[in-house]
Amino acid sequence: MGTLPKLHFLLLISKVLFFSMARLKPVVAQQLYADSRWIVDGDGRRVKLACVNWPAHLQPLLAEGLSKLPADTIARKIREMGFNCVRLTWALELPMNETLASLTVTQSFQNLGLFESLAGIKSNNPSLINLPLMEAYKSVMTSLRNNQVMVILDNHITTPGWCCSGEDGNGFFGDKYFDPQVWMQGLHKMATMATGFSNVIGMSLRNELRGPRQNVDDWYKYMQQGAESVHAANPDVLVILSGLHYDKVLSFLQNRPVSLSFTKKLVFEMHWYGFTDGEAWQSGNPNDVCKAVSNEVMSQSVFLLEQGYPLFVSEFGADERGTNVNDNRYMDCFMAMAAEFDWDFALWTLQGSYYLRQGVVGKEEFYGLFNYDWSGIRNSSYLRRISVLQLPFQGPGGLQTVAHKVIFHPLTGLCILRRRRPARLVLGPCIYSEPWSYTPQNALWVMGLPLYLRAIGLGRPARLGTSPTEPGTKWEMISASEMHLSSKAEDGSTVCLDVNTHNTVMVEACKCLSSESSCDPASQWFRLVDRTRL
Ligand SMILES: *[C@@H]1O[C@H](CO)[C@@H](O)[C@H](O)[C@H]1NC(C)=O
Ligand SMILES: *[C@@H]1O[C@H](CO)[C@@H](O)[C@H](O)[C@H]1NC(C)=O
Repeated sequence: MGTLPKLHFLLLISKVLFFSMARLKPVVAQQLYADSRWIVDGDGRRVKLACVNWPAHLQPLLAEGLSKLPADTIARKIREMGFNCVRLTWALELPMNETLASLTVTQSFQNLGLFESLAGIKSNNPSLINLPLMEAYKSVMTSLRNNQVMVILDNHITTPGWCCSGEDGNGFFGDKYFDPQVWMQGLHKMATMATGFSNVIGMSLRNELRGPRQNVDDWYKYMQQGAESVHAANPDVLVILSGLHYDKVLSFLQNRPVSLSFTKKLVFEMHWYGFTDGEAWQSGNPNDVCKAVSNEVMSQSVFLLEQGYPLFVSEFGADERGTNVNDNRYMDCFMAMAAEFDWDFALWTLQGSYYLRQGVVGKEEFYGLFNYDWSGIRNSSYLRRISVLQLPFQGPGGLQTVAHKVIFHPLTGLCILRRRRPARLVLGPCIYSEPWSYTPQNALWVMGLPLYLRAIGLGRPARLGTSPTEPGTKWEMISASEMHLSSKAEDGSTVCLDVNTHNTVMVEACKCLSSESSCDPASQWFRLVDRTRL
């Protein structure tokens, strides 16, 4: 108990200092390491990768959006949105096809008939237009470096263009456009180029392996060779390996580890979208689907954290219009797991639109943080929700505190907070959460204080009682998802925690526990998330 007043003191200080510290603290460009499941700096302190994808692998071979904003402005906005890192994609032909690599930005856009975009680049990024494509790519890396944004170079595809399909000849080693030798030379070249950039902290060897040729033996053979090729050229970068079946499956690593000549640099990556499971979210009961899909993801990739490897969830995201039921339900479940496991991530995606995608000029990207013309943020509530994942809950370094729980609400990305005047429980930023404990008697206790989460009756706000023996203070996680926090209220009814439109925490009838698919339980979903740092 002696440490608890200090804990509250620290919570208070952190409230005061948070904005100044979080905003000013530079991400020092540096070498990072894999230390058990954490990515850490040279002093062993966790650096949580909070990345956003920025594609540069489509046909024009230039990072998207440079016709709309200066590269420096985009890099600065990435920081302002709370990200510390970019997964910058590249096509293998960029380093390996001399015909292409010798093109200037102007020639590349002219060849594709993209005159409007070219005019935009000329006015927003005039210094780029006469550069060869590789130099323009490096110039984007420089802008990111100047804004303290770390970079992961991701070999996304061989042939410039939209990725991916199983039959595009880019899917697996030995496919028409995927010669392992050319790939390794390309990795070597890019890794060598990256030695000039202190902000490049990782290389992702190949995006979304797939297609009829994929097999585990070739995965080990070539991924190990590719990793060695990167390491030989640039020993400072993390080496990031992706799985089979569009980067969904890494389960073969359960009992066959990767064998490499170097240590402390191996990271795995996986992708998880709503559509990864087809229309399952929309056609099933969200509690059941969340349970089934979480179990699947656990056994396919997330188990790696427990085996002591960092896992970089390098693509996830949703349609930000909020009208895609499948995406919405997936995201509710994803947020719970992402907070619980506190993994490193890269959101799909930054761009509000493309120069050219799948034959469509100026195609809009509804998963993008920027709006169509990159003049603002597409959906600020979506960004606010994601932002809870940008700061670490756990891991070495930072301000450490007594291990405790926060009561996380995946639908909003907020946590239950205690408000004193008027005395209420509300949702608010998780950084302000009291330290909760889930006691062996199933009470939710505000650590160090005689305060226990309590249900008085249906339709009434949740309260704090003063003793864990009062009625309405025993809480269980029910339903298949185990995300409904349920109690027997003082008035005898079985209730679940919920939130109203003013973000007040309420006690309501439990909903959507059964197998119906039309019902959406997400307002009642809570996850107790471990936290050890402030
Ligand atoms: C190199 O790029 C050119 C221009 O896009 C293309 O026509 C050619 O097929 C590419 N060569 C290889 C080997 O991929
Ligand atoms: C932003 O997302 C929320 C939640 O999904 C949705 O309700 C809202 O309509 C979206 N706003 C815009 C401008 O798309």
